[in-house]
Amino acid sequence: MNFPNLILILVCFHFLFNLHQTQAESEACLDTACHTNQPPIRFPFYIETIQPNNTCGFPGFKLLCSNKNGKNQTLLNLPYMEEFNIQKINYATQELFVNDPNNCLPKRLLSLNLSSSPFHAVYYQQFTFFNCSFKFKHLTSRYKPIPCLTDSSKYNVFATPSLTVFLHLSSVCDIVDTVNVPVQSPFYDRVLSSQLDDDLRLSWNSPSCRRCESHAGRCGLQVNSSFEISCYNVPPTQGISRGASYAIAISIGVPTLLCFILILSWICSNLRYGIHGWTWARDTVADFESLLNSQQYNNILGLDKPTIESYQKIVIGDDGIHLPRPNDKTCSICLSEYMPKETVKTMPKCEHCFHAQCIDEWLPLNSSCPICRTSPTCLLPSENLAQS
Ligand SMILES: *[C@@H]1O[C@H](CO)[C@@H](O)[C@H](O)[C@H]1NC(C)=O
Ligand SMILES: *[C@@H]1O[C@H](CO)[C@@H](O)[C@H](O)[C@H]1NC(C)=O
Ligand SMILES: *[C@@H]1O[C@H](CO)[C@@H](O)[C@H](O)[C@H]1NC(C)=O
Ligand SMILES: *[C@@H]1O[C@H](CO)[C@@H](O)[C@H](O)[C@H]1NC(C)=O
Ligand SMILES: *[C@@H]1O[C@H](CO)[C@@H](O)[C@H](O)[C@H]1NC(C)=O
Repeated sequence: MNFPNLILILVCFHFLFNLHQTQAESEACLDTACHTNQPPIRFPFYIETIQPNNTCGFPGFKLLCSNKNGKNQTLLNLPYMEEFNIQKINYATQELFVNDPNNCLPKRLLSLNLSSSPFHAVYYQQFTFFNCSFKFKHLTSRYKPIPCLTDSSKYNVFATPSLTVFLHLSSVCDIVDTVNVPVQSPFYDRVLSSQLDDDLRLSWNSPSCRRCESHAGRCGLQVNSSFEISCYNVPPTQGISRGASYAIAISIGVPTLLCFILILSWICSNLRYGIHGWTWARDTVADFESLLNSQQYNNILGLDKPTIESYQKIVIGDDGIHLPRPNDKTCSICLSEYMPKETVKTMPKCEHCFHAQCIDEWLPLNSSCPICRTSPTCLLPSENLAQS
């Protein structure tokens, strides 16, 4: 028998042995819930009034049942924060979905601080909140105001994940704050503005009961130990028979070995190509990294100051506009028309124009033209060299 297979089988034995051993000490707490229509509650969560805290739960996972306004809710108590309302718990992936019991999640996001709780976001997305005076009420035709933060006769509050909208709104509105929102999937909201009322997706790492839960077992604290975890009551039918574990070990082991050999031979053949092979590999990794980075606003490679300064500036005269593209009458970053005496900057390659102030904020973050996405640096190889 080959070596990787042997290891896999040993791992499998260890795994099965552990699951069956703890089956005997059946010490699990009973599943419970705040109400029949509420999520089932079990370890590491505990309901303070129903379950004794020292055997059924883990510190930081305390829940409360509430019956405010005839609505039955399961509330999560986090340190230094008001409660969150639990919508769903997935014990096998150790994730939970929460919302605000007072139906104003955006307000909670402005003061969200998970650092002293056992929970963290699965995915974060950055949103900036703007407070816009009633004078600019036309903005509501383009962006969705957050109802519970807005007083529509005085001001509108918007939240945006978009850099373009950020540049637009920051010229007319007050910035309230920029916060990281625990969204449900990466780049969940590619919208211009969001009312941010979807449940927050959170996860916890410790105590780790993923393996136990995914085998339909129940996790619990070990008797008389301080916060050591055991897996109880794994149903025997769910256990894998010895024959099956051989089959699984072989069906995983053989492809793994083949992959290993393939990867090894690929590396060897690259080594034989010598320096060119490695350069290629390094460049591919670099391309991939820059592709990844370009998806995040913070890491976009922008232009340096001297390059931005070097672009042609035009001051619009009282008698009207004389721009390279005569039909260009509005700046597509802030969406306002060019007015006399304003300074307009022209991109060198495509001759698209923008307010100097607007494009000066864009270019340090992104080297391409906001309209046509052509990069001026491609035209000027000497500048490219100077930058690197
Ligand atoms: C259980 O709760 C009591 C009071 O609510 C507290 O003093 C005690 O430390 C808790 N025990 C554990 C293990 O959390
Ligand atoms: C909430 O729970 C109470 C009993 O605990 C029940 O009488 C009531 O109908 C529930 N309300 C809803 C909306 O389910
Ligand atoms: C979050 O709270 C911790 C203390 O609990 C504090 O040290 C930290 O600075 C806070 N973070 C923010 C962003 O407020
Ligand atoms: C928005 O600004 C108004 C005053 O213009 C203020 O009363 C209100 O509290 C602000 N709202 C937020 C969410 O900052
Ligand atoms: C747990 O501790 C108590 C005293 O603290 C002791 O009486 C009991 O026998 C212990 N149980 C086990 C299973 O060790």
